[in-house]
Amino acid sequence: MAIFSKMINPISSIVLVMASLSGISDAFWRMDCHSRTGLARIDPLVDAGEISDHAHAIHGGNNFAFNTGYNDLIESECTSCLVTQDKSAYWTPSLHFQYANGTTVVVPQEGGMLAYYLLYGENIKAFPKGFQLIAGNTRLRNFTGPVPDPPKSLWTADETTQFSLGQKAIGFNCLDYSKSPEASLYRHFMPDKGYIDANCKNGLRLELMFPSCWNGKDVDSADHKSHMAYPNLVMTGDCPSGFETRTPSLFYETIWWTPAFAGEEGQFVLSNGDPTGYGYHGDFITGWEVDFLQSAINTCTDPSGEITACPLFNIQTQAEAAQCELKMPEELKNDNCAGPAAGLCGNVPIQSGPQEASALKPGGTAAPTVASSQAYTAPAATTPLVPTLSYMTPTYAATDSYGGGISIAAVNAEGLASVSPPSTTPTTLSTSPPVTAATSVSSQQPPGSIVSTMIYTSAGVVYEIAIEEIDITVTAEATPAAKHRRHNRHHRRGSREHGLLGV
Ligand SMILES: *[C@@H]1O[C@H](CO)[C@@H](O)[C@H](O)[C@H]1NC(C)=O
Ligand SMILES: *[C@@H]1O[C@H](CO)[C@@H](O)[C@H](O)[C@H]1NC(C)=O
Repeated sequence: MAIFSKMINPISSIVLVMASLSGISDAFWRMDCHSRTGLARIDPLVDAGEISDHAHAIHGGNNFAFNTGYNDLIESECTSCLVTQDKSAYWTPSLHFQYANGTTVVVPQEGGMLAYYLLYGENIKAFPKGFQLIAGNTRLRNFTGPVPDPPKSLWTADETTQFSLGQKAIGFNCLDYSKSPEASLYRHFMPDKGYIDANCKNGLRLELMFPSCWNGKDVDSADHKSHMAYPNLVMTGDCPSGFETRTPSLFYETIWWTPAFAGEEGQFVLSNGDPTGYGYHGDFITGWEVDFLQSAINTCTDPSGEITACPLFNIQTQAEAAQCELKMPEELKNDNCAGPAAGLCGNVPIQSGPQEASALKPGGTAAPTVASSQAYTAPAATTPLVPTLSYMTPTYAATDSYGGGISIAAVNAEGLASVSPPSTTPTTLSTSPPVTAATSVSSQQPPGSIVSTMIYTSAGVVYEIAIEEIDITVTAEATPAAKHRRHNRHHRRGSREHGLLGV
């Protein structure tokens, strides 16, 4: 243990956030895709060659257009991810807020998108040239399993169908760094506005686990899904027969700054017209050189997950990554997906289910109109769009984690001293969390003040450190390793630096 006192930054303090990977594998890396290359109705997988029906938050290689494939991506001039060898494309629907009068604006993104490359299973194979994949289904508007998920060891056959695993692969993590964290993939729907206002003080983290069991031969399939399958515990577990080859397990996280709309009447809605969240989805096209990715899989197994711990990776600065933008096609130059606009771009109708949403045509119309977009109507109290689910702290049993995955807890700067990494196994965390819930610093922050996060791992626990804007000197106790990393990685980032819509 070392005690150190440091003026972190004239306007910064530290919130220590703790996350735990649920055992099994501790080899992974966390690809930080710092900013969007674009917010646009482009989807070369679903709407190849056409204007996509709905908007996407797009990250990664900038050679991204209506017809992009592997060969185009690999030729990208730049990437918005911090590892310059990664020209992959990562995209998901964007999150929007719809005011009571029907006007929508995109919700600011906080800290870019993270793509975890989790190295579960044996003999993991790099994504081959041309590999592409979709997770999730844009038309879903209900959930077929019990809410909440029972413990994984009790999952029935019905709950381990590929359909059911796919629904469990979506998460809406309500962030409040002053409380114990929710487990990743705990809640498979978007909480309603009232719940978000009351509980998600640090935003909403949208999570998506991709299937990681491959049929070993096809780089794609007609639905862009059937060449892959989920293992029977979503992230971990056994692959179904015929899909025994493991690829890296991709897990996307995007934090949306929902507190920007605290107290406003209206609703959050995904760009595909989904206010429930069941229709969340994401797309991936590999943009790695295959041999390089295979070397990274074999080499970059530092349990910290930090890209800086991998000697193969060339890492650019966040400022450099933020320069990387896709070339907006002429056809989209009148699109205003960020808003404010009347309705969603592409004129996507808002469909709250529970029946399957209608298929949308590519193209839509460029300019949303009030007439054809639905005005917001508050759902009747008796028929909530989604179930309510209380704040849920994770359990950390390594073999039967509730919801699995990467979960987060937090303490404030003053609490840092009590947050030396536990030497015990993560299983003990559920009964005696080594964090305090004191929040005297963070609770006084104006919303949106977290400008940076960084990650380190010790004893199987991933620590995420968030830098807040405040004038304070921090005195803290930490392990030499933790201290070292903090000194090395005082980069700043935040939605305000991305040039995203300020609201
Ligand atoms: C709708 O309401 C929002 C929030 O009050 C406001 O900013 C916007 O200008 C309104 N839109 C129209 C078309 O009146
Ligand atoms: C739930 O969603 C499925 C898949 O979209 C659909 O087939 C089913 O009809 C929906 N259930 C209800 C009650 O609408």
